[in-house]
Amino acid sequence: MNPLPAKTKAHRVCELTGNTPVNRELFRLEFAWPGPAPRAGQFFMVKPRRSGVFLARPISAASWSPPQSGSRALHFLIARRGRGTEELTRLRPGEEAELTGPLGNAWLDFLSPPASGERPARVALAGGGIGIAPLHSLLTGEPPGLVFDVYAGFRTGFTGPDERDLLLGPALLKAAKLVIATEDGSEGLRGRIPGFLDPAPYAAVCACGPEPMLQAVAALCKTAGIPCFVSLERRMACGVGACLGCTVRTPAGNRRCCADGPIFRAEEVFP
Ligand code: FES
Repeated sequence: MNPLPAKTKAHRVCELTGNTPVNRELFRLEFAWPGPAPRAGQFFMVKPRRSGVFLARPISAASWSPPQSGSRALHFLIARRGRGTEELTRLRPGEEAELTGPLGNAWLDFLSPPASGERPARVALAGGGIGIAPLHSLLTGEPPGLVFDVYAGFRTGFTGPDERDLLLGPALLKAAKLVIATEDGSEGLRGRIPGFLDPAPYAAVCACGPEPMLQAVAALCKTAGIPCFVSLERRMACGVGACLGCTVRTPAGNRRCCADGPIFRAEEVFP
């Protein structure tokens, strides 16, 4: 008899175990999650248990710990952008939220490590602002055969080492190469990531951030003939492909960001 398939997603009421402000807009939330471990790039639908909003918000998992006593610490970086995320960032440790996930596809669905014996493949990770979060876990997992260089862009510099550590996390700070750029030049290079990223030396580029940045990175990769994968953000209702509320328009037809993505081949969405 075949064993039952492993559960790939779950809906759970979870306790918030930490809420750390990263800066005035961004917060790092930690939940005790008793469900299945996500894969790098996946997201959860998250909503406070006591909430004035109807819909949960899709939030990418930034990092997670191994399970201990039946649950693991699951971290999210959340930007205060509306009522739903405002409620989440106001949660206090001990309060509860409903989490459904992990949902969507994962970076490693697209990146193939080289055959054994070959040199590791070098991959560029390009994150803009909070778009850095879905890339964190790729480095934490250290997939065999892949080496990562990180390009992280922000509007302005960090207010201190705490903000830098919370935004980038220990994994990104240990990347083979870390390029930081800010639009006002107050930290790292002055400018935007597409101005500093040359895709040519890389086996692939993975990008997450504002759509103009993704389009610019995709265009660079197209010119260089390098595969590019982008994680998109859309408003979502069901999160599981049923409501068609998260449409991504492509020349080949509409795709669902939650169920067909959130990661897409760049040429599919930015032809
Ligand atoms: Fe319902 Fe994507 S949110 S189909």
